[in-house]
Order: sequence, then C-alpha cells, then structure tokens
Amino acid sequence: GGLITLDRGFKNTGSCESAITFLDGEKGILRYRGYAIEELAENASFLEVAYLLIFGELPNETQLEKFYKDIKEESHVDEEMKKILDGFPKSAHPMGVVSSLTNALIAFNPSSVNVESEEEMYKAIIKILAKFPVLCAWALRKRTGQPLDYGDSSLSYVDNVLKMMFKKANEDFEIDPVVSSALNKLLILHADHEQNCSASTVRIVGSSHAGLFASISAGISALWGPLHGGANQAVIDMLEGIKEDGGDTKKYMAKAKDKNDPFRLMGFGHRVYKNFDPRAKIIKKSADDVLSSLGIEDPVLDIAKGLEKEALEDQYFVDRKLYPNVDFYSGIIYRALGIPTDMFTVMFALGRLPGWISQWREMRLQKEPIGRPRQVYTGETHRAFVDITKR
Ligand code: CMC
Repeated sequence: GGLITLDRGFKNTGSCESAITFLDGEKGILRYRGYAIEELAENASFLEVAYLLIFGELPNETQLEKFYKDIKEESHVDEEMKKILDGFPKSAHPMGVVSSLTNALIAFNPSSVNVESEEEMYKAIIKILAKFPVLCAWALRKRTGQPLDYGDSSLSYVDNVLKMMFKKANEDFEIDPVVSSALNKLLILHADHEQNCSASTVRIVGSSHAGLFASISAGISALWGPLHGGANQAVIDMLEGIKEDGGDTKKYMAKAKDKNDPFRLMGFGHRVYKNFDPRAKIIKKSADDVLSSLGIEDPVLDIAKGLEKEALEDQYFVDRKLYPNVDFYSGIIYRALGIPTDMFTVMFALGRLPGWISQWREMRLQKEPIGRPRQVYTGETHRAFVDITKR
C-alpha cells in the first residue's frame, strides 16, 4: 500500500460527497438542501423537513399527504416487541432500550434488510419513520410507569408523538399549541448535521450493506455518548449539580479550564462551529418563549445564562472558540415540556432520524464502497511464540 495519512478523529478528512446539509463553521451557517435552518425552523413542519432531507425537495401538498398516509399505514409495531420491552428493568437507560428495540424490529420486518431498488428503500424508510416514534414513546412510558398508548392518525406526526408519550390512561388528551410548536422546532433543528459521529456511524455500518434499521440502531448508540447527543442530558445534570452546590458558576468555570480536572463545560464547544452554533441561537430564544408561555420559572435557565455570559468573556473559551452548542439550552425546553432528563437524547434521536435516513440513502444510491479506514501500526514488529510455561 501507499503512504497512509493519519488524521485522528477525522478532523480534516472528508469521507464522502454529500448534497444534503451545508455547514459553514466560521460563519455559523446551517442549511438543509439549501434552505436556511432559521427559515425551516420558523415555517416548516418536521415531516416536511424529513421529506426534504430524504428526497431533496420540499414536498407539495399531494406529496406530503401521500408520505404521511404511507407512514400512518406502517405505524403498527408487532405485539411481540412488547415482550422485549417488558424484559428491560425500569431503570434501563431509554437510549439502550430504543437502540435495542430498533435492532429487534428487523426480526419482525425482514424485508427491510436487503433493499436494492429505490422502491424497496422507500418501504424501509417509511417503516422506520412510522415505528421509531412508537418505540420512543414506549421507552418514555416504561420510564414513567404509564401503560402503553396507541397513536391517533388524525393528528400530525409531531402531535401524535406527544399523544403517544404523554396521554395518561383514562384521561382525555389535548395538544398544547405551545408545546407542539416547540417540539416541532426542536426536531427540525436536530434533523441533520452532515458527517457527525452518529451519521458517519450510520453510513459506515450501512456501507457493509447491513440494513437500514441495523445502521440506525448503531447511530443511536453513537449518539448516546456525552460528547455527542448525550450532552443534552449531561448539561442538565451539570446545571442541577451546580445549583445544588450553591450556584457558584465561577468555581465550575475554573474546573472546566483546569487541564487536570476531567470536568468540561457540557453543551460548549463544537468540532466545526468556531463562531456560534446557529441552532443554539434559535433554541436559546425558544427556551425563553416556551418557559414564559407555559408560566414556568426554571432556576437552571439562569445558571445556564450566567455560565454562557462568563464563558463568552473568558480568555480560555475565547482562545479556543468555544460557544454554546445545540445541546446547551435544549434540555431546558425538554424539561419544561415534562420530558424526563434521561429521555432527552431519545428526543434528539427522534429529530435526527430523517438525517440518518437521508445519509444512509445517499450512501447507498451513490454506491459508496465499504467504509474501511487504514491505520498507522505502532506495535511490536515480530516476535517468536513463547510457550505458556515459559512466560
Ligand atoms: N469545556 C472545556 N474545554 C473544552 C470544551 C468544553 N466543553 N470543549 C473543548 N474544550 C477545549 C479542549 O480541552 C481543547 O483544549 P486544548 O486545546 O487546551 O487541549 C480545545 O478546547 C479543543 O477541544 P477538542 O476536544 O480538541 O475539540 P474536538 O473538536 O475534538 O471536540 C467536542 C468537540 C464537542 C467533543 C468538545 O468541545 C466537547 O467535549 N464539548 C462538550 C460536550 C458537548 O457539548 N458535546 C455536544 C456537541 S454538539 C451536538 C452534538 O454533537 O450532539
């Protein structure tokens, strides 16, 4: 072989050509298929954005209607899957539950695996868009001890998610427009982010021609980590910790800067954004709007704002171009919507699903070769075998 270039963490290596998401980290620009994230978050429904990401164009009314009709027809999850859910302890982290259930779906939908034609791909895509929110709702209801609930096909995709998650047994359920629009916006802001850790995972798993669901399940595992999507849970855990410790943000700023202390300011910093994260800007404003509309005062919001202010003026953070990222304020909104902390990353996964699907579909349609990075070997050169009695 030729010379191998070493690029730890793929900081400067492009893994593919992609026409899905444009990101300019210096200017803080994020666009899906050419449309600014700000405009989509303000005007579009999450399902329209899903269609846009996956198929490349905003749908017209007929296309959107058909897309949603196809999804509704596939929203049934096999009853046997409930036994798998029952097998998990109540304390199980919902990300593990959701990733396992996504993989388990393959057993009940084997035709979704060997998909070659666009039509077969479409069927698999519809199935996962339909069934994944059900699995997320199951994970939440298991966590909160509520019996499982069925969807309602008269509701929009996002409102149906809310109903499946929050409808209490023997009680009517009304959609709060503030909650519905906040969730719609959050899901759109999370819908894709080009070649991040989980999208790259989905692509690399899918590049072996493992099926879509197996690839998505792997993506969920990648998202779980606190350096990636798990940061949204870690932020609230951190803010709560600071609050309980007396609210001394300066102390935690010092810890974050101390190279001998493993503590990092969660929800800060980004591999690509070096000026600001456009998603964080929108989410910060949304957090203020949602809390005031719902009449909620959350002391951790003040701690978050205090930390942000200090960090933006601090030389350490300025030098390293560390700004609040998408995860810094999103948890405060999820909390206001009544979502338990360890479900936050599941909400991220629900939003990211169309992105993973579009990355997988593009990879397959472009007939990408199997993903297989090289290495620079640093181990022993050659040693003679030593019998176990002589070691
Ligand atoms: N707090 C304190 N110092 C930090 C932080 C932070 N949150 N983030 C980066 N740094 C420092 C880091 O120690 C390094 O310092 P030095 O140059 O002195 O060694 C410098 O900034 C560059 O950081 P890096 O870790 O080399 O950058 P990276 O591109 O490898 O990592 C990151 C990016 C997002 C993993 C990292 O900033 C981080 O760990 N942030 C906290 C976790 C987080 O919020 N993750 C969510 C990311 S956005 C959404 C998502 O992906 O889900």
